[in-house]
Amino acid sequence: MQTYSFSNIKSVARWIVPSMLALAVLPGCQPPPQQTTNAGNAPATPTAQGTPTTGGASTEGNQAPTTGDIPIGEYNGLTGETAGFGKTTHNGIVLAVEEINAAGGINGRKLKLFTLDDESKPEKVPPVVTKLITQNDVVAVLGEVASSRTIAAAPVVDRYGVPMISPSSTNTAVTVTPNGNIRDYVFRVCYIDPFQGEAMAKFLHDTKGLKRVAIFRNIKEDYSKGLADAFMKTFTEKGGTITTDKSYSTGDRDFRAQLTAIKASNPQAVFVPGYYSEVGLIARQAKEIGLNAPLAGGDGWDDPSIANLPAIQGSYITNHYSMDSKDPRSANFVAAYKKRFGQAPNALSALGYDATKLLADAMKRAKSLNGGDLRDAIAETKNFPGVTGDITINDQHNAVKPAVVLQYQNGKQVLVDTIQPAASS
Ligand code: PHE
Repeated sequence: MQTYSFSNIKSVARWIVPSMLALAVLPGCQPPPQQTTNAGNAPATPTAQGTPTTGGASTEGNQAPTTGDIPIGEYNGLTGETAGFGKTTHNGIVLAVEEINAAGGINGRKLKLFTLDDESKPEKVPPVVTKLITQNDVVAVLGEVASSRTIAAAPVVDRYGVPMISPSSTNTAVTVTPNGNIRDYVFRVCYIDPFQGEAMAKFLHDTKGLKRVAIFRNIKEDYSKGLADAFMKTFTEKGGTITTDKSYSTGDRDFRAQLTAIKASNPQAVFVPGYYSEVGLIARQAKEIGLNAPLAGGDGWDDPSIANLPAIQGSYITNHYSMDSKDPRSANFVAAYKKRFGQAPNALSALGYDATKLLADAMKRAKSLNGGDLRDAIAETKNFPGVTGDITINDQHNAVKPAVVLQYQNGKQVLVDTIQPAASS
């Protein structure tokens, strides 16, 4: 792990400009490691050695207040194309924060949640996350669901040295820079799409015995493209055939032309790794044109708004969590959620809840709530007992967990299989 970051801009700018002037007169001199960065609370007083200022706490990353409520931030699409994701995740986060505070908070300090809406648009994410950090002074950020939006936030939290946990973004690039380095401050509590795609390919090929599957992907979403590629890789490695690979874009409403071409390729199933906001229409239009092969998808289908559609029944999805789980942790969570919100949770609620509880656990173990210390405590998480399973953060900053395969039957997601990750995942 990188031990310093020269790009922590929140307060280092106050120091870096005069330093650069000094460096300019020292030919061949490299920039020193990051100095004390005091995140807009007390004025920064950097020293050349980066001497810790608070009893052994790291001075790396964002500098957190040591008294009073602990501000944490959430950004989500509470309105817009996939508002269902934002709302169900938000409820899970709220329930966790309420439980943490009712149980005494973090070493006696209460969590204070700031939530901002990114309108389900990646371009809204950087200003929203910047606002949480610079105006609400949050010490950690929770979000997003959609991978494209979490990817938009990642450089921002890395630059400010504020840890972020995505509950549910599964695209590989979320925790990795474009140069291939693991992002210092970005984590997630879910598995990644190479595994999710492999899980559905295994299920359709090995369990269902299918040999010919078509793909219908959303080319505007990193999630959809990554999951389609992962599925294709495993399915063809197993000897299966992709009969055709068609695409659509976010916001499209008429899919009949592509679905007609897919039907003509005569598949035994159609893999649609999209979001629920389009999947409902895709399923209905498929039936209308007489494409009756079963549909399969991923976690992106998981929203209560499509569960009862007749065209969806019989379809299979991979997901993070099954409400059929007999685990008492899960049963307690489902009961508490129903009591609080009057409806059943989905996987997103469970992952939002787990991300928040895991963050609180790391806060209790961290040397301080400064960015560097909190990041280290999150990275060291082992066997955290989440409602979606035990969570260990690996060296890629991901959680390695099983995937469940669910089938829609009479408006319910019924557990039909559980796919374990390979030891190397
Ligand atoms: N995994 C999806 C993504 O990365 C988001 C998602 C997770 C949606 C779980 C629904 C349920 O974009």
